[in-house]
Amino acid sequence: MKTLFKNIKELIQVRTEPISFVSGKQMNVLPTIKNAFLLVENGVISNFGSMQDCPTITTDKIVDASGKLVLPSWCDSHTHIVYAGNREGEFVDRINGFTYEEIAVRGGGILNSAKQLQETSEEELYQQSKVRLKDIIHSGTGAIEIKSGYGLTVEAELKMLRVIKRLKETFPIEIKATFLGAHAVPLKFKNNKKGYLQLLINDMMPKISEEKLAEFVDIFCESGYFTVEDTELILRAGIKNGLTPKIHVNQFTAIGGVKAGVKNGALSVDHLEVMRNEDIEVLKGTSTMPVALPSCSYFLSIPYTPARKMIDAGLPLALASDYNPGSSPSGNMNFVVATACIKMKMTPEEAINAATINGAYAMGLEKEVGSITVGKKANLLLTKPIPSYGFIPYAFGNSQIEKVYLKGLEIE
Ligand code: NIG
Ligand code: FE
Repeated sequence: MKTLFKNIKELIQVRTEPISFVSGKQMNVLPTIKNAFLLVENGVISNFGSMQDCPTITTDKIVDASGKLVLPSWCDSHTHIVYAGNREGEFVDRINGFTYEEIAVRGGGILNSAKQLQETSEEELYQQSKVRLKDIIHSGTGAIEIKSGYGLTVEAELKMLRVIKRLKETFPIEIKATFLGAHAVPLKFKNNKKGYLQLLINDMMPKISEEKLAEFVDIFCESGYFTVEDTELILRAGIKNGLTPKIHVNQFTAIGGVKAGVKNGALSVDHLEVMRNEDIEVLKGTSTMPVALPSCSYFLSIPYTPARKMIDAGLPLALASDYNPGSSPSGNMNFVVATACIKMKMTPEEAINAATINGAYAMGLEKEVGSITVGKKANLLLTKPIPSYGFIPYAFGNSQIEKVYLKGLEIE
């Protein structure tokens, strides 16, 4: 099966030589080809170049992309889209003056979502989550990481991970699963956090590893949740069970979790709204990807990750949605890219790199997706007729996407 995209006004994020990620000044470089063609064969990018070199192809599937741009799909490396119900009530509580922390202390927040999820059947959880997945696919996401962490019991965490597995088996989008049992201490273990950590390590992790339910392990390293010591313990246990570390860290306070992540070979450290100079220093020259979640900053009215400072210090940066019921009830990566430009002063080039190739790296998918490279999956966005790629963040809140393709097939 062949599809030929021809007369593409501009083909974006063209990487002839495969790369892992871009950092520092390179983030401001976004290679493109104007007046281009792109050939997809059996779901994979097989050729691309300037229209003048377009080969003669016999296929009925020709897409005339005159006036339109083609980009690799967004790579969203941090989400919690498997959840039950919603937290609209807490949203109104925050409008009325309560903070996210105050709501959590009163038993709301993650524990509220955990209660709702524990009371929801696996089938119902799948049905609710499927709606969100379909929605984000239509908004242009072509690879996604999904976390557990709203179960907080052996049974409910496994339920979440099985739902992720079913989504993975059902939808053509790339999905990676993360075990985030250490998202909050459940009420039952309120005075026995150690006991809960032992449950995660001794009961949950071996089952997850046996059933191959996750690729990554995560923990919420934050004052009032889990300490740096807890983080080291969980990451090491995860590694022993074949899970690669990723962490939620420096969202409200900087307590040394970034260093612990780097030390334990974390693939990514996510949130980073509060960054000390020493946190930036410790990330330099490592293989750990910093990940910013601007929708969460927007929704909670908390500081944005200091992207300018980090990129100017030579670091890479990825952008993700953090789609979850409490701090970012949106998985729209177009909004993420726009907000990164508008609020974090990232250039369109930096934001697009951060939401494609760097996001792919933060999921271990940099060889599969995230750029226009021969051999990669044809997970693509075809825009409406727009003047340039900078128009995507500029015209924020309006979708510039006309069609999305996963493995070369147009999504209806
Ligand atoms: O990434 N910060 C921790 N976890 C989620 C939010 C959890 C919730 O409020 O449900 C996050 O923002
Ligand atoms: Fe998160």
